[in-house]
Amino acid sequence: MVILDGKKVSESILYEISLRIQELKGEGKRLPRLDMILVGNDYGSIKYVEMKRKTVRQVGMLGEVHHLDESIETEGLLDLTESLNNNPEVDGYMIQLPLPSHINKHTVLESIDPKKDIDGLSPSNLGKLFQKDRTGIPPATPVGIIKLLEEYNIKLLGRRVVILGASSIIGKPLAAMMLEKSATVTICNSNTLNTQDIARTADILVSATGKPELIKGSFLKLGCVVVDVGSNKHSETGKLVGDVDWESIQGIPSHITPVPGGVGPMTIASLILNLMHCYENRNR
Ligand SMILES: NC(=O)c1ccc[n+]([C@@H]2O[C@H](COP(=O)([O-])OP(=O)(O)OC[C@H]3O[C@@H](n4cnc5c(N)ncnc54)[C@H](OP(=O)(O)O)[C@@H]3O)[C@@H](O)[C@H]2O)c1
Repeated sequence: MVILDGKKVSESILYEISLRIQELKGEGKRLPRLDMILVGNDYGSIKYVEMKRKTVRQVGMLGEVHHLDESIETEGLLDLTESLNNNPEVDGYMIQLPLPSHINKHTVLESIDPKKDIDGLSPSNLGKLFQKDRTGIPPATPVGIIKLLEEYNIKLLGRRVVILGASSIIGKPLAAMMLEKSATVTICNSNTLNTQDIARTADILVSATGKPELIKGSFLKLGCVVVDVGSNKHSETGKLVGDVDWESIQGIPSHITPVPGGVGPMTIASLILNLMHCYENRNR
């Protein structure tokens, strides 16, 4: 069973970016800046933003975290996105999801300048993705997954992919990107009947449900590739776990992403890559 080492692959992407930043510093140029908006005190969200901030610093970029109180209203958040849209020092920014339920997520995502939307989640960028318009910014997690598969020479053309999870940040955009690479894609949601039987038809199974230990050996075809996007806190140990029940899948897949160290670091590397593209486009 080959481990798809997202940590290692992401480190090499980030190393290349850090060399580019060194060049910019040497030339006395303005450095790329990535800002992050965090609302409230959700444990997972704080951890994700900390990891992103650490990576931004490691590669030598600038960045600021705007940590807002849980009670902020939609209008308050719109004021901040407007000011980041208009700030020439900011090349790109992201809003850590989920947002508290009283905030209108769609209005907020729509307010992000598409050229600064490094998560690729604004309607304009998602629309471009579905229209195969390459001028948009693609969502970071699906980009990271595709890059990781490519790095290990796992082909999509003609392969059968099953994605468990239909969210706008993972399942749907990933399906569009994999379709574009000529895979045959099925997306399942929580109401899908016979999910296990459908999963067992997959050459490549992607699980993005947020349900720890959902994926048992009985979900897998022998020799398939498993991409575990889940990022869950284990109810007893408090450790980070994915959707896969590792004990029961031993010896079945040919390749699998670990949690931690698989899709998570690839998502962060893709965010930073998206930011570099925004920076280079603005300075062209
Ligand atoms: N590693 C990373 O970089 C990264 C990045 C982002 C998110 N994540 C993780 O990925 C997971 C999903 O995130 P999300 O934001 O997409 O969550 P989400 O918005 O809650 O979506 C979860 C999706 O899974 C579906 N689902 C739930 N149970 C299912 C089941 N038994 N079989 C098939 N589908 C099922 C849901 O179906 P319905 O549509 O019917 O509700 C929904 O479409 C979470 O663990 C999150 O923390 C990881």
